[in-house]
Amino acid sequence: MKQNIYDHPVFFKEYTSLRKSSVTYNDFIEQPAIKSEISTLRDKSILDLGCGTGEFAMYCMENGAAKVVGVDISENMIEQAKRENHHENIEYICMPIEDLALENQKFDIIISSLAVHYIEDYTSLVVKVNDWLKHNGEFIFSTEHPIVTARKEGNNWVKDEDDHKLHWALDHYQEEGKREQHWYIDGVVKYHRTISTLVNTLIENGLVLEKITEPQSIPDGLERMPKLVNEKRRPSFIVMKSRKNK
Ligand SMILES: C[S@@+](CC[C@H](N)C(=O)[O-])C[C@H]1O[C@@H](n2cnc3c(N)ncnc32)[C@H](O)[C@@H]1O
Repeated sequence: MKQNIYDHPVFFKEYTSLRKSSVTYNDFIEQPAIKSEISTLRDKSILDLGCGTGEFAMYCMENGAAKVVGVDISENMIEQAKRENHHENIEYICMPIEDLALENQKFDIIISSLAVHYIEDYTSLVVKVNDWLKHNGEFIFSTEHPIVTARKEGNNWVKDEDDHKLHWALDHYQEEGKREQHWYIDGVVKYHRTISTLVNTLIENGLVLEKITEPQSIPDGLERMPKLVNEKRRPSFIVMKSRKNK
């Protein structure tokens, strides 16, 4: 199932106003982490899977990339990307990643920021990524951490009667597959996979794992969003860097 939640008017409005605030988990944890894994953008060709509103594509251009192809299922996101992050060397394609067929195009770097947990068939994705990468090319992606996606019920923090967080509830870890949650609206679908599945699928399909990070907030984030201290108790994201070696 391909869900296009970012074209839901309520979700889109809430999500984009959150991102515009620049006081988010993305700004202080995920984006610094994923950017720090990239060897260099200079003269590189980049494929951004789930590119959203194109900020990362523009960051690539500002850092010397040769070209970026950004793909996203959401018309709203792609329209905003074309409006706000237009560049002659960025091509935006509105299409589900699952349907993407890039004949005769190979990339130095494939990035995916917080979109992999929306993809049901992770193996097919990795097979395609391997095909789209040049020899020695990098695949770097972030996804919600499996300890966050595992449990079927929401409210993973177990709290005392004074609303203090006691601990994080982990459950159903080995039961991979669909999870539904409320995030601005009901019925947001994500897919839970174990760490071993995330890693071994890369290895089994011709990629060499180079690094895994479970990022914490940058110092500025702890000042501006004090709740990010809880990332020390359980990480929200996992970032994987792998490389094509054939
Ligand atoms: C959390 S947002 C991240 C956007 C962007 N990568 C960023 O970091 O700002 C996830 C994005 O993935 C896109 N997405 C979700 N499922 C997708 C799919 N099956 N194919 C393409 N894009 C998808 C959404 O539309 C959304 O723009």
